[in-house]
Amino acid sequence: MTQTLAHHYHGRTVLVTGHTGFKGSWLCLWLRELGARVVGFSLAPPTEPSHYRLLDLDVESFLGDVRDAAALRAVVERCQPSAVFHLAAQPLVRLSYREPVETLTTNVLGTVNVYEACRAADCVRAIVSITSDKAYQNRESATGYRETDPVGGSDPYSCSKGCAELITSCYRASYFPAHGYGSAHRTLLASARAGNVIGGGDWAEDRLIPDAVKAAARGEPVPLRNPRSVRPWQHVLEPLAGYLLLGARLLEGRPEFAEAWNFGPDAQGEVEVEAVVAKMQESWPALCYYAAPDASGPHETKTLKLDSGKARDRLGWRPVWDWVEAVERTALWYRRYHETGAVRSREDLAQYTQDALRRGCEWVAG
Ligand SMILES: NC(=O)c1ccc[n+]([C@@H]2O[C@H](COP(=O)([O-])OP(=O)(O)OC[C@H]3O[C@@H](n4cnc5c(N)ncnc54)[C@H](O)[C@@H]3O)[C@@H](O)[C@H]2O)c1
Repeated sequence: MTQTLAHHYHGRTVLVTGHTGFKGSWLCLWLRELGARVVGFSLAPPTEPSHYRLLDLDVESFLGDVRDAAALRAVVERCQPSAVFHLAAQPLVRLSYREPVETLTTNVLGTVNVYEACRAADCVRAIVSITSDKAYQNRESATGYRETDPVGGSDPYSCSKGCAELITSCYRASYFPAHGYGSAHRTLLASARAGNVIGGGDWAEDRLIPDAVKAAARGEPVPLRNPRSVRPWQHVLEPLAGYLLLGARLLEGRPEFAEAWNFGPDAQGEVEVEAVVAKMQESWPALCYYAAPDASGPHETKTLKLDSGKARDRLGWRPVWDWVEAVERTALWYRRYHETGAVRSREDLAQYTQDALRRGCEWVAG
């Protein structure tokens, strides 16, 4: 790609669903830095503190429920976005066991409603729909999942993300097919599956880093429920770079990119839970932990790995920060916030952009 992200997004109207959440707020920050007009649709920030509120971005924010098809449609009609990043979801596995109906309706029907709103409007050229590595049918495999592997999921959250993937395939085949692009329709739809995302500004419940950070703020050690579980750890800016690059390809009008894509870390980023927290402690000694395996808790996958070869080969995307750097930057973010109240997200984004350029990702330029 010779054109930069700024070339594609500057002055463009972009709708982000889930803009008040962890990943959505980072995405809004990046889009604003690129000069996009950003419209957000989601429920109020899910946590207090909230990264979205702390950033205080110039975003046209609409608070609403993705299960409310009419509200969603009204925002799309009113704001006329040409690109849509769909992140609104109930994203927590343990909560999904307690609230399966909420999770399934939000993540499945909410996705249908987003696509319907886009279908009804004549303005949307690109949709990037965010699911998860958990969308894959779990086989506890030592090799990474590929985009061609079957989707599924035994817990309600994973199942909802597998269903969202099926819905994406259905909408692509039925309403936005590659062969009809430019004649029957002008919308390209892709999905993106990332790994366990870390970075400053996440305070969600039952997630490793936020739990550890909240415990450190209280002066307590955090219990590790699954210290030996392996996850693909990556800084939040890594998949966001992939989503933006994928969106840019769709905005160029290239139907061959309207597919599913993995954006995971290198194999070295597939690391045990305990190693991640131990590394974090090196940068923030106040953060303490102890192993407390919880055999009675709901089932969680032991091993999850993603194969992102397709994104590397065809999109030219690649991870920039390894897991150690991702953890160190995350620790630094929370430590600075805890000690001074300052938010270093803009510094992290500027550093990530510089490092990506140095690694040959010239498309990242702002
Ligand atoms: N954080 C991760 O490690 C991770 C990993 C893989 C995939 N994902 C996916 O990325 C997306 C964003 O996750 P996150 O970590 O930022 O979660 P988050 O909880 O911080 O944000 C979720 C967002 O969705 C909104 N939302 C929830 N229910 C809604 C509803 N019914 N209507 C409208 N908005 C609603 C919330 O208000 C919030 O803005 C989700 O789709 C999630 O499944 C996250």
